[in-house]
Amino acid sequence: MQTNLRGRDLIGDLDFSREEVETVLDVAWDLKRKRALGEPHPYLRDKVLAMLFFFSSTRTRGSFEAGIAQLGGHGAFIESTTTQIAHGDTAKEIGEIYGRYFDGIAIRHCDWKLGNQYLNEVARYSRAPILNMQCDVYHPFQCLADLMTIMEKKGRDLRKKKIVVSWAYAASYLKPISVPQSLILQMPRFGMDVTLAYPKEFPLMPEIVQQAQDEAKKHHTSFEITHNMEEAFKDGDVIYAKSWGPLLTTSDPAEGKKLQDMYKDWITDARKMKLAKEDAIYMHPLPADRNIEVTDEVIDGPQSVVYDQAENRLHAQKAVMALTMS
Ligand code: CP
Repeated sequence: MQTNLRGRDLIGDLDFSREEVETVLDVAWDLKRKRALGEPHPYLRDKVLAMLFFFSSTRTRGSFEAGIAQLGGHGAFIESTTTQIAHGDTAKEIGEIYGRYFDGIAIRHCDWKLGNQYLNEVARYSRAPILNMQCDVYHPFQCLADLMTIMEKKGRDLRKKKIVVSWAYAASYLKPISVPQSLILQMPRFGMDVTLAYPKEFPLMPEIVQQAQDEAKKHHTSFEITHNMEEAFKDGDVIYAKSWGPLLTTSDPAEGKKLQDMYKDWITDARKMKLAKEDAIYMHPLPADRNIEVTDEVIDGPQSVVYDQAENRLHAQKAVMALTMS
């Protein structure tokens, strides 16, 4: 068990070693048990977390705010639009100043080619740890909750289990690519075989895919890419299908929408789920475009674990806060 996480940032999924992630999971399950039993666990009494949002949120905000309160601390919800960031506060100033006020700074900044750079710049100047509530490149807390959920459903030994990380059609907006990127980076370290599926206009960042392939090689797991959703689903143990924007193909939202609309048949439905293993689970980080990205029948059906997955955000985040902010 690795116990030296105090003061550490979590910005990219590989910032914590596999052993450190295992520590996070152990603590997360302990905190989950304590909450179930109603046992107080104020490991962060009098500590304050800044939660700085440049983008909307339901689950991330709710679970971080509830989590820090359950640990005995306080979460300060701050929206970039109601700060002086628009009037000139730089990332350096946020790091220097908020790092002195707060015991941790959690940031969500998903703007393409800006978000990750911003988090790293704040981290450079902050004396408090920086926690990535989603940027343009990574969504590490979602991925920790996903890993925790997969282990709860499939067992802690995930070797030879196949996770399908698939693109799906959505009509609402061009979603970030951070969730699939985090998944392909993290899951090979825990023995999972990864199949990544997307229409050819929707690739992920080549350097992230290369890193994921390197992790797969290092951990003796397989990593495959296909442009056929049905082929990908075959024999899957975990079906994780969600939409993302064609950010590496075009920066024009209208062009992106046109590309997206070419693939309306990339929906997760009962017919496609039948291609996976009989006991396969369906995962989605939410929000989902219902009956566009996934049918009600699947997301509300017996194979769906989306609510357990959302719950585990709370426990995984509490574990990282307790380990890094104490
Ligand atoms: N999955 C997730 O990050 O949800 P929110 O965008 O609602 O925070």
